[in-house]
Amino acid sequence: MAELRTERLLLRQWRDEDLEPFAELNADPETMRYFPAPPSRVESDTLAERARQHIEAEGWGLWAVEVAGGASFVGFVGLARPSFEEHFTPAVEVGWRLARARWGCGYATEAGRAAVAYGFEELGLAEIVSFTSRLNRPSWRVMERLGMSHDPADDFEHPGVPAGNPLRPHVLYRLSREAWSVSHSAV
Ligand SMILES: CC(C)(COP(=O)(O)OP(=O)(O)OC[C@H]1O[C@@H](n2cnc3c(N)ncnc32)[C@H](O)[C@@H]1OP(=O)(O)O)[C@@H](O)C(=O)NCCC(=O)NCCS
Repeated sequence: MAELRTERLLLRQWRDEDLEPFAELNADPETMRYFPAPPSRVESDTLAERARQHIEAEGWGLWAVEVAGGASFVGFVGLARPSFEEHFTPAVEVGWRLARARWGCGYATEAGRAAVAYGFEELGLAEIVSFTSRLNRPSWRVMERLGMSHDPADDFEHPGVPAGNPLRPHVLYRLSREAWSVSHSAV
């Protein structure tokens, strides 16, 4: 089972103690403003449990993020397979959700870079995607910092968001292993 270390962070398996701060994060309306509805406590726990089971079964997934020598849980970052069908699925996406107090530190980008490297180097993926509501600028800015590219022709209406909801139009970003290798070796 993989744990990923970066300069400041540890991406690790979930622990029971993460459930409370994860529920707090999920109950914050500002953090969840680009989601159609904030998850209930039960849904928050279920999400964490699914992430834990996925990491247990596959060795990778949406890891709990800890600040090395600091906060023991600041949110999740990692890789997942989208659970819905769209023109770009099946696929592996990179995603993130951090507690509001931890925004503006570069943590999502730092952890996202480690997750992407794991996907290409260890899983041998040919491509990693990421998507978010068109309105979620902070999230698509992370995608751009990761070197992902956006073709408006890829954008889609998220099937899990009701028609007419302004959060339904989604942007899709892609990163191929070739493009990543070039930018990675240039660093
Ligand atoms: C999306 C989300 C993870 C983005 O968080 P973020 O903190 O803006 O993104 P990063 O971690 O990449 O941090 C980048 C910021 O940290 C700043 N920063 C500070 N110190 C830094 C450092 N040492 N290294 C890099 N960046 C640093 C950058 O300048 C940048 O600030 P700016 O946006 O004002 O230019 C966060 O808004 C979030 O969790 N939102 C709620 C959940 C969500 O919407 N998830 C996506 C659903 S698809």
